[in-house]
Amino acid sequence: MCGIVGYVGNRACSEVLLSGLSRLEYRGYDSAGIAIGTSSGDVVIRRTEGKLASLFTAFREEPFDGTIGLGHTRWATHGRPVERNAHPHRAGRVVVAHNGIIENYAVLKRELIKEGRTFESETDTEVVAHLIDHALESGSTTLHDAVRRAMKLVEGSYAIVVMLGDKPEELVVARNASPMVLGQEGDEIFIASDVPAVLPYTRDFIYLEDGDTAVLKVGDIAIFDAAGEPVTRQVKRINWDPISAEKQGYKHFMLKEIHEQPERITDTLRGRVSVDRGDVDFGPMEGIEDGWLDTLERIVFVACGTSYYAAQIAKYIIEDFSRVPVDVELASEFRYRNPIINERTLCVPMSQSGETADTLAAMRLAMELGAKTIAVCNVVESTMTREADGVIYTHAGPEIGVASTKAFSTQLVVGLMLGVWLGRRRGVLDEEGGREILEALRDVPQTMSKMLHEKAIYKHIAYNFSDVNSFLYLGRGNLYPIAAEGALKLKEISYIHAEGYAAGEMKHGPIALIDESLPVVVLIPKNRVYEKVFSNLEEVKARQGRLIVVATEGDDDVREFADVVLEIPDVPEYIQPLLTVVVMQLLAYHIADFKGTDVDQPRNLAKSVTVE
Ligand code: F6R
Repeated sequence: MCGIVGYVGNRACSEVLLSGLSRLEYRGYDSAGIAIGTSSGDVVIRRTEGKLASLFTAFREEPFDGTIGLGHTRWATHGRPVERNAHPHRAGRVVVAHNGIIENYAVLKRELIKEGRTFESETDTEVVAHLIDHALESGSTTLHDAVRRAMKLVEGSYAIVVMLGDKPEELVVARNASPMVLGQEGDEIFIASDVPAVLPYTRDFIYLEDGDTAVLKVGDIAIFDAAGEPVTRQVKRINWDPISAEKQGYKHFMLKEIHEQPERITDTLRGRVSVDRGDVDFGPMEGIEDGWLDTLERIVFVACGTSYYAAQIAKYIIEDFSRVPVDVELASEFRYRNPIINERTLCVPMSQSGETADTLAAMRLAMELGAKTIAVCNVVESTMTREADGVIYTHAGPEIGVASTKAFSTQLVVGLMLGVWLGRRRGVLDEEGGREILEALRDVPQTMSKMLHEKAIYKHIAYNFSDVNSFLYLGRGNLYPIAAEGALKLKEISYIHAEGYAAGEMKHGPIALIDESLPVVVLIPKNRVYEKVFSNLEEVKARQGRLIVVATEGDDDVREFADVVLEIPDVPEYIQPLLTVVVMQLLAYHIADFKGTDVDQPRNLAKSVTVE
């Protein structure tokens, strides 16, 4: 995820900027840069690709300094992670660093090019720099006015910090749906996308609100609301130590990432979904020619681990919405058999990292056999995204907890979008059908946020169930893969054995395991297989199994059987995996936390498996 740091005051600020960027490293990035207004009245920009060490070396070789500046770590979303795409960007008189995504940047860029402006990068951010510069050229007498005029044209999420390249005397910031805090310590003003960046310098922070802009000069912060009226925002004192600041006060990164999911799902939907048109637009996919989709006969997902479960859910969705047959294969199996693939097959490698050795090999094999490929991936410029014909990014941001949470839920979102995209293109879904699904999807972040407030019940379960040796998870339909994912999460972080099973298969074997010592987690929200799964509840109860039941709010029938009920809101069947998985994550997290395991870095596991 991108990070921003800024300073205006009376000390030479390179140290504040560079050390601030180091404190944001944990968020993940692939290039970085700083811009400092020097005493000669101009702004020097230094940017490098890769790790911050390269920026430090470049800075040491040719140092420069001044009392006003900004810095940025970039996690690529538009354009490769190379120096020309690194921030800060300069257009004319304007220097900008930006976090977030400008949804309408392509349209704005076309208009700016028509007016004779030239672009040096592939980023959405450079468009912002040009818009502000254009506003200055066409009547704005202050940088603040130019920023306000420019940002009125922009759709999307942003936290920006701006200064004039020829008169670096003040910083102007603007925020919409992307975090930004301001700190003041005497005459010194600090800006950061995240508190830890500047925590050594100040503990008093102002959290800007959506639509706010601010003008920052030595010793002075002036904040304006969305209407341009001066406002006062509350100052909050932060008492976190630096490590909990990185975790934003959460005990573990995993818990923080679970709570981030509503925002990351919004990011993944942003700019792609048109609810009004009932359609999805993934933008151009260079290697997929127009009309190729009409010849598509079959889709094959290849994936490992958690991503495999996400792909299994995508199968339910895509087949349902578009009637295209979908197979889901474990990449490690696929690559060593003789799969039937041809040029009318679409292979979708589903991978958070884009580097998993087995998935990469499976994708390459499918390509050799003539398939087109669209990678679903969270890391820009990872090997899979470079080699595939098309890419759909999940915008989960870097995931630090080894056990995946937000990267998984954003994969589910892409699966749903893919289903609508294909369904519309193949004439299976009409506008109204697409709209209904996308409306339900659009509501997920809000519904999920409400669910995340509930904590006490998970602590209660952790207390009562953390000493058992084994769990069974049962789900049916598109919740069978969620049962498997729930079991995987529990195994990974609590080291308790757990098995995810298709509920309908229980009586074909696992029922032999059930007695009073085995907790059985049953996923049974109201859907087309509700009655079928209900009979599993009865079967478990008849054998004294301990039941943890995930059900639709207000379903009193399950209470008769359940030891514990965890509720999800009443949502359409295709949305249920997105909400039930949050319950799975919290359940695993609280049991592991109660046991005191290393939740973020469980034993024997690596975040990216680049060997077979
Ligand atoms: C578990 C987890 C793993 C990965 C798997 C594949 O929480 O994250 O099971 O999903 O190692 O990795 P990617 O998705 O990067 O291909």
